[in-house]
Amino acid sequence: MGSLNIENVKKAFGPVEVLKGIDLEVNDGEFVVFVGPSGCGKSTLLRVIAGLEDSTSGRVVIDGDDVSVTPPAKRGIAMVFQTYALYPHLTVKNNMGLGLKQAGTPSAEIERRIKIASAMLSLEPYLERQH
Ligand SMILES: Nc1ncnc2c1ncn2[C@@H]1O[C@H](COP(=O)(O)OP(=O)(O)OP(=O)(O)O)[C@@H](O)[C@H]1O
Ligand SMILES: [Mg+2]
Repeated sequence: MGSLNIENVKKAFGPVEVLKGIDLEVNDGEFVVFVGPSGCGKSTLLRVIAGLEDSTSGRVVIDGDDVSVTPPAKRGIAMVFQTYALYPHLTVKNNMGLGLKQAGTPSAEIERRIKIASAMLSLEPYLERQH
């Protein structure tokens, strides 16, 4: 359990400003739901909180600590994605690379991107695991 404070968080993708200064306080034990039309920025905000995406400006504070530049694995929070497809017959690594493989991405590039993502999430020890 803990608290979350979001202070004037903005996120732009190029010229498109998706988060336009979000302020939110979530106290210990509170349950919060983000509701809004598709594309309004719900997932982007969750990704910024989790550290999977950098905000353009503003602060994310967890339990009083500014984690705005803290890597995701060190934030002590978890995220479950709205859509996921994990194949039990594939290793963690092959699950991670499947979308890229199907898109025809060269295997060296797949390796490179799995390395970056797994380092970000401290998943390296599990890459060869089946589940
Ligand atoms: N990596 C990215 N690069 C460019 N634009 C992006 C990127 N990620 C999200 N966007 C854009 O940001 C906006 C918000 O997207 P986001 O996925 O946060 O919406 P959402 O509220 O979660 O939508 P949904 O209800 O469909 O899940 C959309 O216009 C989307 O196209
Ligand atoms: Mg979403």
